[in-house]
Amino acid sequence: MGTEALVLDGVHAHYGQSHVLHGISLTLAEGSLLALLGRNGAGKSTAVNTIAGLLKARGGSIRLFGKSIEKLSPESIAREGIRLVPQGRRIFPSLSVHENLIVAEQRRPGPKEWSRERVFGLFPRLRERQGQSAGTLSGGEQQMLAIGRALMGNPRVLLMDEPSEGLAPLIVAEVGRAIRALKNEGLSIVLVEQNFKLALELADELAVVNTGRIAFRGSAAEVNADPTLVTKHLGVF
Ligand SMILES: Nc1ncnc2c1ncn2[C@@H]1O[C@H](COP(=O)(O)OP(=O)(O)O)[C@@H](O)[C@H]1O
Ligand SMILES: [Mg+2]
Repeated sequence: MGTEALVLDGVHAHYGQSHVLHGISLTLAEGSLLALLGRNGAGKSTAVNTIAGLLKARGGSIRLFGKSIEKLSPESIAREGIRLVPQGRRIFPSLSVHENLIVAEQRRPGPKEWSRERVFGLFPRLRERQGQSAGTLSGGEQQMLAIGRALMGNPRVLLMDEPSEGLAPLIVAEVGRAIRALKNEGLSIVLVEQNFKLALELADELAVVNTGRIAFRGSAAEVNADPTLVTKHLGVF
């Protein structure tokens, strides 16, 4: 067993009086990809938003490379090395592609440090559009920019919330290739996905969230041998 990049242990979360996460426990091994699946409304976004500190965990612990982060502010959690690509790909529509990347930059000097050049290497379409305002990009290009912004923060753990949502199949494949490239260079990733096929292609481990609880956790090999372990929790297929 390698280093644990991220560990959630019995995490609870609420929106006001509404208790949404009921003791979620998950482990992300360093350099691996954990896919988080589940029906709409299951609590996937709540889980990644809680990791990022946008929602405070009301119970349980969250550790990033052994350090407790569940009481930190979202800004401190980002500084510790967690970056979230939010669902619905938030970008600054009136800023250019270039400016969107610059404002997201947080240096972490080292051989693998991210730069605009490296982001453009991963997503060549963004280089062609760097002077264009982000609001005029296609949905797929906005998703690439949202991922690029997260990378400019030089994350140790990258959280991606449904990056393939609403994209045409060719663009989904392009985003999938980029995610695989990030994983291959050793980034630790939590990928929330509704696209089970894509999730299974990319994941080392998979977990299913159902009504705020973990209904299944297992390896890609286990799920490949018996996909119903996961699909039975996802509704119609
Ligand atoms: N801002 C919010 N305020 C109140 N309830 C919310 C809010 N966001 C999500 N919920 C509720 O929390 C539950 C989990 O939602 P969410 O985490 O967005 O699910 P998923 O990402 O798996 O589709 C749902 O019942 C949803 O209605
Ligand atoms: Mg969601």
